[in-house]
Amino acid sequence: MTAGFTRQDALALDAASSLTAMRDRFALPEGVIYLDGNSLGALPRTTPAHLAQVVTGQWGRDLITSWNRHDWIGLPTRLGGMIAPLVGARADEVIACDSTSVNLFKLIAGAVALRPDRRTILIEADGFPTDRYMADAVAALIGGAVRAAPRDALANQIDDDIALVVVTHVDYRSGDRRDMAALTAAAHRMGALILWDLSHSAGAVPVDLAGSDADLAVGCGYKYLNGGPGAPAFLFVARRLQDALPSVLSGWMGHVQPFAFEQSYRPATGLARFLCGTPPILAMAALEQGLAQFDGVDLPNLFAKGEALGDLFIRLMEARCGGQGFTLSSPREARARGSHVCFAHDHAYPICRALIERGVIGDFRAPDLLRMGFAPLYTRFVDVWDAVEIIREVMTGRAWEDERLQQREAVT
Ligand SMILES: Cc1ncc(COP(=O)(O)O)c(C=O)c1O
Repeated sequence: MTAGFTRQDALALDAASSLTAMRDRFALPEGVIYLDGNSLGALPRTTPAHLAQVVTGQWGRDLITSWNRHDWIGLPTRLGGMIAPLVGARADEVIACDSTSVNLFKLIAGAVALRPDRRTILIEADGFPTDRYMADAVAALIGGAVRAAPRDALANQIDDDIALVVVTHVDYRSGDRRDMAALTAAAHRMGALILWDLSHSAGAVPVDLAGSDADLAVGCGYKYLNGGPGAPAFLFVARRLQDALPSVLSGWMGHVQPFAFEQSYRPATGLARFLCGTPPILAMAALEQGLAQFDGVDLPNLFAKGEALGDLFIRLMEARCGGQGFTLSSPREARARGSHVCFAHDHAYPICRALIERGVIGDFRAPDLLRMGFAPLYTRFVDVWDAVEIIREVMTGRAWEDERLQQREAVT
């Protein structure tokens, strides 16, 4: 199918897609092909003016009265309501707060408290490290254990000592996408709870937390949700668990009456108990604009475009960069993949840097992966074509051999 595919064909795909216009909602720099929206989403055009308004018009003018006048206090819940449709949840099942790591800790600790006769947390081996660190931290506190197993073997490892399964829906490296309904059902059959990390899923691939009967989930606000660097994360607790699940980080914002200033902690009902300290309003205001970019977007169409972009990238890489030492390291089947694609290469690091110097921003993931993300809201088919052509130039011209490009930078 890719044989004979040209840049004109890529432009024709963009012209035919109703989503191409969405790109104008983002302030992307000229001359850059941005394929890292899976790590840091692009800047929505409306964000700078909105932040300026919140800073000067709300904080500057209305000062502390803004908590009520501009409903700052309701932002975590409002943002949760905006995230909910992106992950197949009800509005009152999602709240925006803290970082993904902190939310992992809160929900893992809450979940093990619901299964006091079980001592083990089951987690994928080689998942994103913070998930493992947080599981280890909770296990150490309760005198429990963590067992790790490959992602595709988790279902077989769930026995009657497993309190909780922690798994990422889309793997940060391979992009492997798990079957949420099937693994959730396997956990439930054995009496375990399950926590899904949606960091590489929310806003990029279909997620049906309610339809899968999932228990718990967390995810990032700064990737496909375009909330800006270090944006607040989110957490999901199924309605049926909300009143039972304890909040272990019992900060005052999760108190049923924070402004009663009581000396003893009484948890709020619903998800508000998972708030901890004062919400970061400026960061939340930026996330609000990131989420607003999904307004009016047909989600099935959006997710189908993400799959098509990844498919095109794989086919073009194989057709135009074959014989250059790349090996596909992501599922070929789009339904089994997230919205990023990895190719392994012995020289992935300097190749990635050579590409960045030429305006193609993807990223490197140790030990040897070149990772390209296709945020379907703003990535065009022609970007995929142009990126592969530039990869081809870097490879045929051996540009990556430049001495400068071999040295590791602090953030890779
Ligand atoms: C799968 C996954 N989980 C968690 C995180 C960390 O999130 P945070 O920095 O919000 O704690 C990341 C960051 O990239 C991630 O990819």
